[in-house]
Amino acid sequence: MNEFSSAAFRFGHSLLRPHFVRADPNYQPIEPPVKLRDHFFNSDIVLRPGMVDELIRGLVTTPMETLDQFITEEVTNHLFEDKKIPFSGFDLAAINIQRGETVRVGQYWLNFMVNTALQRIRSE
Ligand code: HEM
Repeated sequence: MNEFSSAAFRFGHSLLRPHFVRADPNYQPIEPPVKLRDHFFNSDIVLRPGMVDELIRGLVTTPMETLDQFITEEVTNHLFEDKKIPFSGFDLAAINIQRGETVRVGQYWLNFMVNTALQRIRSE
């Protein structure tokens, strides 16, 4: 079960959009949208008058990002980036893979494959 939460539950990282759309009361987009990289550890933007409403309207009118093998650059090159230091952003996909190593997801996968193969051999 630990392996499942360590790997499968991170599927959400593929669903991230690079920015939050803001929408006006007629649900039309307001420029500029809110880029993820500009607001890691910096949520002050929600204190701006009307911003929470704009963000909620944006959220309810924006479709989910496709679940695929791609993860937005906002979190693969600019995660927790310090704007003053070039290339200081983390890579979420790399961190996820390293975490997989730490909690031995590979070992789980290997056991699964061996057990499946053994079951097949025994049933033949
Ligand atoms: C802007 C949005 C997000 C950011 C910046 C983010 C970032 C991170 C980071 C830095 C970690 C720790 C790295 C690691 O252990 O591999 C993490 C872990 C995780 N993330 Fe996200 N994440 C986001 C959204 C999501 C979403 C939408 C989901 C699922 C729907 C998700 C599911 C998880 C899970 C299950 C973990 C492991 C938690 C644990 O070990 O207890 N994340 N995320």
